[in-house]
Amino acid sequence: MSTKCTIREVSKYVGEEVTIGCWLHNKRSSGKIQFLQLRDGTGYIQGVAVKNEVSPETWEDAGRLTQESSLYVTGTIREDARSQSGYELTITSVEVIQITEEYPITPKEHGVDYLMDHRHLWIRSPRQRAILVIRAEIIRAVQQFFDTRGFHLVDPPILTPSSCEGTTNLFHTKYFDEDAFLTQSGQLYMEAAAMALGRVYSFGPTFRAEKSKTRRHLIEFWMIEPEMAFVDLEENLQIQEQFVSHIIESVLNNCRKELETLERDISKLEKIKAPFPRITYDEAIEYLQSQGFDIPWGEDFGAPHETAIAEKYEKPVFITHYPTGIKAFYMKPDPTRPEVVLCADMIAPEGYGEIIGGSQRIDDPELMEERFVEHQLSKEAYQWYLDLRKYGTVPHSGFGLGLERTVAWVCGLDHVRETIPFPRLLNRMYP
Ligand code: 4AD
Ligand code: MG
Repeated sequence: MSTKCTIREVSKYVGEEVTIGCWLHNKRSSGKIQFLQLRDGTGYIQGVAVKNEVSPETWEDAGRLTQESSLYVTGTIREDARSQSGYELTITSVEVIQITEEYPITPKEHGVDYLMDHRHLWIRSPRQRAILVIRAEIIRAVQQFFDTRGFHLVDPPILTPSSCEGTTNLFHTKYFDEDAFLTQSGQLYMEAAAMALGRVYSFGPTFRAEKSKTRRHLIEFWMIEPEMAFVDLEENLQIQEQFVSHIIESVLNNCRKELETLERDISKLEKIKAPFPRITYDEAIEYLQSQGFDIPWGEDFGAPHETAIAEKYEKPVFITHYPTGIKAFYMKPDPTRPEVVLCADMIAPEGYGEIIGGSQRIDDPELMEERFVEHQLSKEAYQWYLDLRKYGTVPHSGFGLGLERTVAWVCGLDHVRETIPFPRLLNRMYP
């Protein structure tokens, strides 16, 4: 019996005979030699079957293999400088598990809708695999960043009785006889958790019933939401730039192959190191107007505005101090200029748009009560949130990083639909 191993581990078995469970990715043959491109999810390796060196059964089985057929292959690992992985497998035998017939995704070009309909199979392709590996690396880096800096992971609820980021894009459902909504953000609960544990972060799915069909919007997306007691806007921004730099550094260190598969321009990512540039909303408006954009003070930025601003920089840029009127009810006004709030959006370079929204929160109980009246929020539904300002209120801040937009930027993708295994889009819930 030969040793069972994965393709990722083959370097440990040079000169030895191993068995690998795998799928046939591709194949070519030159009469007396068959070259099998094999994949097992952990990597790719070329298996070489030589007619004169294997049994007639193995030769024939290798010949029957079609794209995505499943098999156990046994052979000897050899170092091979010419091959992409650095190793090759000299095949001694093949055990077919299943011969696949008419695999729907062939090496030819397919349309996006077709690929989306076959997303469950599309994720087997090298590009999609690379994206999902990088997504997993980013999640790992996120957790490592916070877990080693005194933050505690806290899980806010998914089913909520009220909204966090405004009522227009809530998913409504029933909670037995009551109304309930899928969470848009765990933030309000994280504020409660920060008062209990000091520094906390959450990582979970969030839902926005947005009728936007853009390359940046998903209906279901994953958000990382840190919340920190005794932290002001300035410290909040410093943590954000270190956080994003750490994510990029981790991907560069651990996902080189995947970035190569995606043909990502790595030099662009290598420039992403804290500190990041900052401009105020006022400066951003002035700049946009000077560039011919017809946008008055007080209006929110759309994708073209964000892109125009980001183009000036090679790193993500913070836009700070937005007008109070266009931001969420919980953001703390600037004490020297209450018409703007102590907030910042982080805009990624290369046109990827806003990846982080964050702010210092209102800590004054009276001002919070006023905001409730202005925004027509139900004091009954939010009594618990008002309690946080009543019992030992403190300055505190937090932010939310959108995972999928970050993956799109890091991977250099045109659209967020490829950044999540099974995207939920305006017109798609299948598969
Ligand atoms: O700016 P947003 O709406 O902020 C919040 O939800 C705050 N409560 C966060 C906080 O302070 N704790 O969303 C934060 C980020 C955005 O910057 C963006 O990256 C991402 O979440 N995001 C989306 N990503 C994909 N699809 C959508 N529909 C998204 N909406 C927001
Ligand atoms: Mg935002």
